[in-house]
Amino acid sequence: MTTNIREQLSIRQERDLIICRNRVKEAAVKIGMGIVNQTKLITAVSELARNMLIYGGGGNVLLETVTRGREQGVQIVFEDKGPGIADINKAMQDGFTTGKSMGMGLPGARRLVSEFFIESTVGIGTTVKIIKWKNG
Ligand SMILES: Nc1ncnc2c1ncn2[C@@H]1O[C@H](COP(=O)(O)OP(=O)(O)OP(=O)(O)O)[C@@H](O)[C@H]1O
Ligand SMILES: [Mg+2]
Repeated sequence: MTTNIREQLSIRQERDLIICRNRVKEAAVKIGMGIVNQTKLITAVSELARNMLIYGGGGNVLLETVTRGREQGVQIVFEDKGPGIADINKAMQDGFTTGKSMGMGLPGARRLVSEFFIESTVGIGTTVKIIKWKNG
């Protein structure tokens, strides 16, 4: 029997990003995820949590371990009530940024995880849900 993890974290400042990364790593280790997938997941989480802090003005993270059949994974939902994203298709393209950055965070994160869902409404906020399966 494994106890499922279900934790809520809030991202309000830079140091919360480190706490978030550490909690995600603990969850990944708990389900026995290998180091390569752990690293991919944590990199994706860092990008999404940073976006939430910079563009979304902070937000909340729900971290859970999940199962589907015999597969175990880590699921994370990032939710902010920031300005939202006007054109998600554009934002998901390599190199698109409204800041002065690389514009690689969202597309990079999508490539690093098993499942990626994004929903955003201008003036309401942005929600991103990711799952990394242990063997995915
Ligand atoms: N949570 C969010 N709320 C509002 N806008 C967002 C959010 N996340 C991303 N965006 C918008 O989508 C764009 C693309 O995000 P992405 O992470 O791909 O690139 P970036 O943050 O600009 O650069 P990088 O991540 O490479 O440093 C951002 O420039 C921003 O305009
Ligand atoms: Mg980014």
